[in-house]
Parts: sequence; structure tokens; C-alpha cells
Amino acid sequence: MIKAAILGYGTVGSGVYNVLHSNRRLVNERAGREIEVKYVLDLRDFPGDPVEKHLVHDFEEIINDPEVKIVVEVMGGLHPAFEFTKRSLEEGKNVCTSNKELVAEHGLELMKIARENDVNYFFEASCGGGIPIIRALNDCLTADDIDTITGILNGTTNFILTEMTENGTSFSKVLKEAQKNGFAERDPSADIDALDPARKIAILASIVFGSSVDYKDIYTEGIRKITAEDIKYASALGYSIKLLAEAKKTEYGVRAYVAPFLVDPMHPLYSINGVMNAVYVHGNMLGDAVFTGAGAGSLPTASAVVADVIDAARHDGKRAYCGWKHDEKLALASNEGIKRKYLIRIHTEDEGKANKVFSPDGFLDTITVGELEDEVAFITPELSEEEFDSKAKAFGKIISRIRFC
Ligand code: HSE
Repeated sequence: MIKAAILGYGTVGSGVYNVLHSNRRLVNERAGREIEVKYVLDLRDFPGDPVEKHLVHDFEEIINDPEVKIVVEVMGGLHPAFEFTKRSLEEGKNVCTSNKELVAEHGLELMKIARENDVNYFFEASCGGGIPIIRALNDCLTADDIDTITGILNGTTNFILTEMTENGTSFSKVLKEAQKNGFAERDPSADIDALDPARKIAILASIVFGSSVDYKDIYTEGIRKITAEDIKYASALGYSIKLLAEAKKTEYGVRAYVAPFLVDPMHPLYSINGVMNAVYVHGNMLGDAVFTGAGAGSLPTASAVVADVIDAARHDGKRAYCGWKHDEKLALASNEGIKRKYLIRIHTEDEGKANKVFSPDGFLDTITVGELEDEVAFITPELSEEEFDSKAKAFGKIISRIRFC
């Protein structure tokens, strides 16, 4: 028997409790021993809920109980999650978490403490919800030199973009639905402005490339500026708009960015819709692989957390391998010089000027969408960000621009 404590009985915490009880027999069989939830920490009371008998309000009860060998931190946020995690690891307790904010901000330090105390810090659920991507990188793709990892890593924004595309639903209405379904962050700007997928790609890149990638170093652009009109043009072209997070090894070093892109139907992430997440990986031996599944929500996230709990039970007293092993920070290479095409929307009367500024031969194909009478769109030739910015400045009146993938 091994005893566990769950910190936080919110969306993920209640899911973890549910998975551990609903799949009790299977979980115990796979862990090789019985896993018992001894405590659930929350500030609130839950009268009548089965969790009541385990509920405590003071973390000291958990940290001072030597029987607790696994702490499941699903509180979210940085504080007190950081302090509770640190103390648990220092006390020789394994920690499993879904807290991407904490892993992205303090993962390196917490893993060092775990190493020094011969315990494990597991965080499968921090990236891609229920998709087993971290375990795949740490355990299954270890024979490969991985050069590219590209993901749709935020369920809320993918759900918003899909609903806007398929049903023409307004941005704010879909966001409310995502919040109701428990996908969105408490402060949904972390989703909309793409801080959340930036943290996730930083975690994945740290595992793939071995040294810590700081999410604050990653160029990050969210979906706040994507409108129903942009989506109409994408659909007219047969493309979809996806918020992609990518880290890629290049001759200049590792480049990383998060931004909305126009994605063509042949792209492996084109048809990933709704709250689904997906991660594309390219390895020098493997070639291409795509991992896909539910990227957010109580039970999918809890499924990944409980898989970590099982791993923690299997590795009690032993360290598990993690690719994120070097203490130094990885300096990202600049994104300057990456050449891409752009879709630009302009006012109809500026068509001539757009051709002069953006086209080398003075002629660009025009894309029109029936109901948008006062505007047209163009696809630019391949330009670097700097070239695009200088032309856009010279042109002056672009309604919107979206990069092609
Ligand atoms: N807000 C996150 C998302 C939750 O929408 O993907 C899962 O990390």
C-alpha cells in the first residue's frame, strides 16, 4: 500500500479523486500495489461529498505525515503550490502535478530538489491534458534526435477557433462556454494571449533539448486579434487558423514561437478541432509522429495525473529518467530571417498600392469573400518578419495579417 494526498479539490483534483476511485482495481494492478488517498487538502468544505472523510484544511497535517509518499499538486497557480511542492520533495515525498505555470516557472529548481532527495517530480498533465506526450518523450522516443516539436497546446483557443469556423459563433460566447466546461484558465487571458501554450512548449522543449527553455523568451502572439472575417478568408482558401506552438532545432540554434497560423489541409494539425490538442514530433530516425487527444477538462487531465501517480508508486525509492536534465538555461536563437507567406486584408481602394509594395512584379492574386465588399486579401511572397514589418509600415493600412505555416 502507498498513501497519497491531493492538494486542491477543484476541476482537476476532483477528477483525480474520481479516476482513482472509478478505476481503483486497474490503477492498483498497474501500480503493483494499492494506492490509498489519505488526505485531500482544500480551504472549502464539501458536505455530503465522499471526499469529506479525507478533507483537511492545513497542509501541515500532510507534510508531517510520514505515511504520505505521493503528493498530487493540482491547486494551480504559483503560490502556495511552489512552497508545498518544495517542502514535499524535501521531505522525500514524490510529487505529481498538472500545474504548467509552476513547472514552466520553477520546474528546473523543483527537479533539482527532487534529485537531491531521491524522489520524482512528475508533470505529464502539464502539457496536452490527457495526451501522453511527456512520457512519450522521456521513455519512448529516447532513440531519436528530435529536431521539431509543434503543438496545438491550448484547448480553449482551439475550441474558440473551431466554433468560430464551424458555427460562426462569436468569440465571447464560445469563451463563456469554455469557461463553463472547465477548460479555460481562471484568468482566460493566459489562454487568449497564449501564455499557457508558451509555457507548455517551453516545458516540452526543455525535455526535448535537455536544457531549460524560459517561456518568457518565446515570441508569443495569441488569438485576440483573429476575427470572424479572418476566418472567412481562411475558409475561402480551404485553410484553417490554428494557434501553433513550435520549438525547432535549426543551424542557428533552437527557435521557438507561439502564434496563430494559416494551416493547409495536408498539415498534420489541420483537422485537430475543438478542445482536442495534438503534438507533432519529428525525429531523425522516427520521421513524423503525431500524438492527439483531449487537451483539457477534468477527467482527461486527471487521467494523466493518475498515470503519474502510478509511475510514482512504481518508482518509489527510485528515480525515473527525465530528458530535462541540465541545470543551465537554453538561449533561444532569434526568429529573424524565417521566411513565410502572409495573408493580408486591405481596403479595396488600396489594391494598387499593395501590389506595388508587396509584390516583386506588381501583381498579386486577389482573394475576395462575397459579403465583405469593401476589402480584399492577398497572399504575399515569402518574407522575413523584418521584411514584412517594413513593407507593412510603408503600406500603412493593413486590416489584418496572418502568417502561413
Ligand atoms: N486552459 C488550458 C487549455 C487548460 O485550455 O488548454 C489545460 O491546460
